[in-house]
Amino acid sequence: MSTLIANDLRMGYTSGKLRAEVLRGLSLTVDAGQLTLIAGPSGCGKSTLLSILSGLQRPDKGSVMALSEDLWRSNRRSLDHFRLRHTGFVFQGFNLFPALTALEQVMLPLGYMGVGDRAARERARVALDEVGLTPRAHLLPAELSGGEKQRVAIARALVKHPQLLFADEPTSALDAANGQIVIDTLRRIAHEHGTTVLCVSHDPRLVTHADRVLEMEDGVIWNDRRAEPKSENAS
Ligand SMILES: Nc1ncnc2c1ncn2[C@@H]1O[C@H](COP(=O)(O)OP(=O)(O)OP(=O)(O)O)[C@@H](O)[C@H]1O
Ligand SMILES: [Mg+2]
Repeated sequence: MSTLIANDLRMGYTSGKLRAEVLRGLSLTVDAGQLTLIAGPSGCGKSTLLSILSGLQRPDKGSVMALSEDLWRSNRRSLDHFRLRHTGFVFQGFNLFPALTALEQVMLPLGYMGVGDRAARERARVALDEVGLTPRAHLLPAELSGGEKQRVAIARALVKHPQLLFADEPTSALDAANGQIVIDTLRRIAHEHGTTVLCVSHDPRLVTHADRVLEMEDGVIWNDRRAEPKSENAS
């Protein structure tokens, strides 16, 4: 099932007298239950695309249907509500709060959603367990490795049970081994929860870990490859 459909997206930036067209009529559909990777060279517009698809940045033209909601026709309030309820985001730089333990970081979004403290704590424990961090739940970011920090960030996105999970270069601050753990965790989440996971990266090492790879250049998707089915443990 396609949960995310972008049609004819156009986006450009003007700096001084220069105008750069970053998205030039880009269309795509993304399915639930799999990890889709958008790959493309640095500066080709991947982060711009992800922020438009996730409701953070309005395109100049074009539409995004996300879970049957026409995102850019919605008002600000329903857009904020949509993002809070249905989307999770994982960033390159982890974006953790230095003074909070792993467990507290993961509880945070549930607080914004009005979930009570006890239920939030329990759900945060489950999410941390899913990324293999139960033994690290009480530690601060400074006491965690890069790979562990990114897994906390994934748990924080996961704890909301979002239908859409976006990741912008989630492995680029990590070494190869930790990058693999992170990307395989994202893929497992897609398969086990039926989540639509959309990851952008310029790292060619990730290509073999995705269910589907969309290649982006010159403002459009120019190639769409589906991976051979493989077992969960293969890497
Ligand atoms: N707010 C902005 N104002 C002006 N130009 C911008 C802005 N955001 C992005 N750009 C430009 O748009 C182009 C695409 O940027 P974007 O960050 O989307 O690329 P990217 O594919 O994510 O790159 P990377 O792989 O390095 O993260 C770049 O040339 C960038 O300089
Ligand atoms: Mg980027």
